[in-house]
Amino acid sequence: MSKIGVIGGSGLYRIEGFVLKKHQAVTTPYGKPSDRYLLGKIGKTEIVFLPRHGSRHNVPPHMINYRANIWGFQKLGVDRILSISAVGGIKKGLKPGDIVILDQVMDMTRNRKSTFYDGKSGVVHIDFTDPYCPELRETLKKAGKRAGVPVKNGGTYVAVEGPRLETASEIRGFGILGGDVVGMTGMPEASLARELEICYSGLSVVANYAAGISKRKLTVAEVMEAMKATTEQIKCLLGETFRLVPDERRCACGEALKEAKI
Ligand code: HPA
Repeated sequence: MSKIGVIGGSGLYRIEGFVLKKHQAVTTPYGKPSDRYLLGKIGKTEIVFLPRHGSRHNVPPHMINYRANIWGFQKLGVDRILSISAVGGIKKGLKPGDIVILDQVMDMTRNRKSTFYDGKSGVVHIDFTDPYCPELRETLKKAGKRAGVPVKNGGTYVAVEGPRLETASEIRGFGILGGDVVGMTGMPEASLARELEICYSGLSVVANYAAGISKRKLTVAEVMEAMKATTEQIKCLLGETFRLVPDERRCACGEALKEAKI
């Protein structure tokens, strides 16, 4: 039986229906995770929850210790991670409140520790053609149908450094490159999980139109408001996902290090 990690983004600091067993602080060779992990259950599924920005939202995206966060999940026995994040919508037709199951990512971050393999434990090049676990994506898609929660199946996430928001020109450029949504936390979370052979999926909630798409000034209040408005939908979607996720992993994520080491 899988132990599922959930990373909550802006506006998601706990999950409904979660029966808390204990808080667990974890130490890692990379320093401290964003907060203590919350260990518990939803139905029969064992869940480990971590608020990405800390429970008081005091860790900005560019200061998050991504390596410690992902390492901590592995230490707690997690083999699948569902990551939830607020994003700006770039693609035409995407509007605040839309939920997107990500299938691709473009990494535009520039100042982050983005690997566990910095030479000391060998030279490793993981395959990252499909950055998100196909089995979890499929499960999320089915869960959306079952729960009656509309989800967009597939979307390219552009990960930016932040903490500032983008210029209109940057967003125009990302759109031309094929980006659908933009956020500040999706990388290196996804690749670090792959390096530890943990399945990882990204569920993005469009919180605002990205810069220049709407003529209005972007505000943090708008982001938080949109996240709050989708809480019920995210809760239903996650609940159904936990029920539907197969007991055993049949994807290739668990073998990511095979043929990846020099
Ligand atoms: N840009 C970057 N990150 C974000 C945005 C945005 O417009 N909205 C929520 N997170």
